[in-house]
Amino acid sequence: MKDLIAIRDLTNNEINDIFSLAQKVKKNKNKYSKVLSGKSVALIFQKPSLRTRVSFEVGIDQLGGSSIYLGHKEINLGVRESVFDVAKTLSRYVDAIMLRTFEHKYVSELAEHADVPVINGLSDLFHPCQALSDIFTIKEKRSNIKKVLISYIGDGNNVCNSLLYLCAKLGISLNIASPQGYSPDNEIVRKAKEIARELSAVINVFTDAKSAAAGADVLYTDVWASMGQEAEREKRILDFKGFQINDQLLSIAKKDCLIMHCLPAHRDEEITDSVLKTNNAIVFDQAENRLHVQKAVLIKLFKDKK
Ligand code: CP
Ligand code: NVA
Repeated sequence: MKDLIAIRDLTNNEINDIFSLAQKVKKNKNKYSKVLSGKSVALIFQKPSLRTRVSFEVGIDQLGGSSIYLGHKEINLGVRESVFDVAKTLSRYVDAIMLRTFEHKYVSELAEHADVPVINGLSDLFHPCQALSDIFTIKEKRSNIKKVLISYIGDGNNVCNSLLYLCAKLGISLNIASPQGYSPDNEIVRKAKEIARELSAVINVFTDAKSAAAGADVLYTDVWASMGQEAEREKRILDFKGFQINDQLLSIAKKDCLIMHCLPAHRDEEITDSVLKTNNAIVFDQAENRLHVQKAVLIKLFKDKK
């Protein structure tokens, strides 16, 4: 494993390595406190962040390494300087680069030209660190993930795309419900269905929330307007009417259904405050696991590089 750009690129062995390492790191933090000793990681953020920034900074620190935060005004990737020049320059200073950006091509280009591992900390297309943490979290709660039906209700966005690939590869059934015009990319759905079929898992895309939520073991949602789409927020609130995770929708899922959200959440838009407060909401477990899973990703990238 050279980089973590998209779940699409990972083999099942790599995914399982990350999960088993994350479990060990979570259980025994001290054992890994020198793994990144003498190593520096550049963290480039062209969008805001709470979880990704803090979990990477703290995680790198806990592994004995150091990180450098580069905000959106610092590098101005592709404008002040080409992606190629940034990749080559940073490769002379640091041992790995994490990038949160808009267009996915910036992450791919950075990985193509950098001589050090590159991690996608969210692009408009994918959020692989999030999906890995999400499935790791479900594995902690449910012993047989192959029997779990995840229902993602909302925008067919970066988080949804990464879940599609990860569920497909692990044989987890996934229902997606989005309003017309907001379904995930057809090609991603087609590929995920093809992979899932081999493992007898089913991926279905619906245009109404109830069909997708019926009998679900997990109800998952994300904001209706992602970072960069703020101007569309009012329109989206109207378009996504009927796609809120609320008590009514929860009542048609399984009794012990888990509630997931990658956060940040817009309470009483895509999910009600009351549902977020139920005992089965595991959103802060998801957030915590970003730390453990990303530490595992870093350890694996450095180990595989040797
Ligand atoms: N879930 C997530 O990536 O959160 P941040 O945008 O706060 O990093
Ligand atoms: N889909 C959201 C995820 C935030 C973690 C966004 O891209 O803004």
